[in-house]
Amino acid sequence: MRGDAEQVEVIPVVHREDEPPRELIIPAISSAVTQEEAEALAELARGKTVLELGAHYGFSTIVLASVADHVWSVDWHQGDIHAGLADSWAVYSSNIVRYGMEDRVTICHGRFEDEVPLLAGEGVTMDGAFIDGQHDLASVERDTALALSLIRPGGFIAWHDYGRGPHTGHHDFAITQVADAFGVAGQVGYLAWGFVPEDKASGSELLPECVAMFDSLD
Ligand SMILES: C[S@@+](CC[C@H](N)C(=O)[O-])C[C@H]1O[C@@H](n2cnc3c(N)ncnc32)[C@H](O)[C@@H]1O
Repeated sequence: MRGDAEQVEVIPVVHREDEPPRELIIPAISSAVTQEEAEALAELARGKTVLELGAHYGFSTIVLASVADHVWSVDWHQGDIHAGLADSWAVYSSNIVRYGMEDRVTICHGRFEDEVPLLAGEGVTMDGAFIDGQHDLASVERDTALALSLIRPGGFIAWHDYGRGPHTGHHDFAITQVADAFGVAGQVGYLAWGFVPEDKASGSELLPECVAMFDSLD
């Protein structure tokens, strides 16, 4: 665990070639992520190192951790204007233990904008990221740029709530706009994803490029 909570040793999960594929866990935890979205997300994350921005009560954390090599889960656990401003820490942390995911998840208990630059500074990189924080344009642009600072070339970036906007009663949701600007490769329900080009030298070099791309949306 990182952030303002106690530091614990993280034991990397070793996945041997002859091991059977891990079984996806769909936890009994309140979430807007549906089962079919969870299944698609799990296939993207299987065997990979994944960043999660927005964990809330831990539904997507457990979906990802059940099949990924390792999950870095970032949330300040104080909520937001869309999820509701409430403390989710006690429920989230007990769910991680309840589903036995302590060794598969590094918990970064803090704000995305503080925690992700710390990870980048430590040289941490990811095979992919799941973005499910606050859904207004400025937040989704920032969170996407933060995720891209860690994702390796060829890695995936997935957003929840793609397709939601004023026409679905979600007036300031801007996931669709940001994901479309990046490039959507697939969609299941309100989950969409794209891939970082293979020819990028490193994920962190995408940050200024991505910010410039998003500037054109404003
Ligand atoms: C929609 S919920 C996440 C839902 C979760 N992925 C699930 O499977 O149910 C959004 C979460 O993002 C967190 N959040 C929003 N903005 C944040 C920020 N800037 N830094 C850290 N956490 C943030 C909130 O605390 C909330 O728990």
